[in-house]
Amino acid sequence: MSDPSERLSESMPGQDNGLKPLSNADDLSLGNPSNAELSRIMSRAGIQLANGFPLDDDEGDEEVDEDYVAVGQEEDANEFPYWFRRPPTHHRTKLDELHPFVQLLSASNVEDCVAVEDAFPEQERCSRDKFIYRLSRCPELSLGLFTLPLKDDDKPKPRPTLVAHIVATRTSEPCVTDRAMRLPSNWKDERWTFEDGQAVGHEEGGGTIAIHSLAVLPEHQGKQVGSTLMKSYIHRIREALIADRIAIIAHDHLVPFYESFGFESRGPSKCQFGGGGWVDLVLEFGDHQESS
Ligand SMILES: CC(C)(COP(=O)(O)OP(=O)(O)OC[C@H]1O[C@@H](n2cnc3c(N)ncnc32)[C@H](O)[C@@H]1OP(=O)(O)O)[C@@H](O)C(=O)NCCC(=O)NCCS
Repeated sequence: MSDPSERLSESMPGQDNGLKPLSNADDLSLGNPSNAELSRIMSRAGIQLANGFPLDDDEGDEEVDEDYVAVGQEEDANEFPYWFRRPPTHHRTKLDELHPFVQLLSASNVEDCVAVEDAFPEQERCSRDKFIYRLSRCPELSLGLFTLPLKDDDKPKPRPTLVAHIVATRTSEPCVTDRAMRLPSNWKDERWTFEDGQAVGHEEGGGTIAIHSLAVLPEHQGKQVGSTLMKSYIHRIREALIADRIAIIAHDHLVPFYESFGFESRGPSKCQFGGGGWVDLVLEFGDHQESS
């Protein structure tokens, strides 16, 4: 059997032996004496080592570190591969740092939505009046992703900040149409609005949920906020069994983004909103819901 102090040196952090000690084993540095010096200190103190780590020779000691695993000298360290292959500490993503939570929107969020909608080029933005209409008429089809700013000791509790939103209405059409996107002039007085015999705006009972806006505050784009919100939205609608499909229009460069959630491209859209040039995308629930 080799000298335990030699084995400590072999396994100390920073040694290029391919093995990674546990993070709490870093404390073995004891103020960073050299490995040889540390080995001497531990050897004199009678601390036995197995593969570079202290043995648990005091069975009566109740204060056992949860991460501590005793490895007998006669045992093969290969029986404890997890000791050496522990995955690296989880690094928090930029999304984690927002401590995000999702919540339905309401008419009280109109100004927040107007701010988030700035993510779009001007001609593609949903107007304030449309937000008032959609969040008053069918708030259950919306979803917001919020972050709660840290509380400053001297200041009152901060209000959650809307980072991203999805706002939608229902239509009886299989795709998003310009009519579905319109703002009915008399929506406050009339439950239904027809123009030329066709429904305009939100159609209660329509089997298609037409998403009119998915937007993320520019400073929070590229942090998985949009995809997290969209996944959450799809999950909610699917689980609630409240629609046959979700439809959206998008420009070409975002087609793969929507396809990654299961939307299928249906080719060029007839929508002329914001100058046109859109692709119809549809996520069908029908088969899944019947079989589940
Ligand atoms: C499009 C948008 C909603 C995406 O949200 P996001 O939080 O920035 O995107 P995510 O971080 O979740 O991106 C996930 C993936 O989507 C794709 N993606 C995101 N934005 C993209 C873009 N502008 N072009 C192409 N692909 C894009 C990427 O593949 C990305 O993967 P990656 O992180 O490995 O690069 C957001 O950028 C936005 O609000 N844009 C302006 C408004 C808009 O165009 N809305 C869509 C209307 S159809």
